[in-house]
Amino acid sequence: MEFESVVNGRKSVRNFVETEISQEDIYKIIECANLAPSWKNSQTPRYYVILSKDKISEFSEKCLPSFNRENCKGAGALIVTTFVKNISGFNRDGESQNNLGNGWGCYDLGLATQNLILKAYELSYGSLIMGIRDENLIRKFLNIPNEEEVVSVIALGGYDGDVQRPARKDVQSIMKII
Ligand SMILES: Cc1cc2nc3c(=O)[nH]c(=O)nc-3n(C[C@H](O)[C@H](O)[C@H](O)COP(=O)(O)O)c2cc1C
Repeated sequence: MEFESVVNGRKSVRNFVETEISQEDIYKIIECANLAPSWKNSQTPRYYVILSKDKISEFSEKCLPSFNRENCKGAGALIVTTFVKNISGFNRDGESQNNLGNGWGCYDLGLATQNLILKAYELSYGSLIMGIRDENLIRKFLNIPNEEEVVSVIALGGYDGDVQRPARKDVQSIMKII
């Protein structure tokens, strides 16, 4: 698929239809996420993939607010993304290399997440990144160690029809050429 059509076609989906996603497709998607650049190739993003219908329901019930539970109904996978803290953006002595600290770990995970959702789109799955979720309950549900920061929950699945994209700002208003 052409790069432009992938970037243009990907939109946040909130009308999933009941979908099953194979482990093989998940592997392809995470493999693409893993090709993203990262600070000194530190590769700190981690992915917790919930694939079984029962576990998806249980997770949604416990860890998502009701509007996001509705938004991801029918999804075939929920992927919780985390990153290992205090590595990306830090030197070997554990000191932050600049003002951003663990912001760089989040930055790396964002780059990986974009690869993830674009690959999902290429494989015909819609995606929804959810930042509104219960961190503590997710940590408990998936037994995520304290060394990792819990970031997003990404829903993947098939969907029906056209999805509208909210308007974007003009490029001129967000860019300065000097
Ligand atoms: C970091 C992040 C967190 C988000 N959290 C939520 C969320 O909790 N619930 C939701 O419905 N959409 C969420 N979204 C989706 C955004 O609302 C959506 O990306 C934005 O409106 C642009 O629309 P588009 O993705 O269709 O281009 C999130 C997106 C990002 C990148």
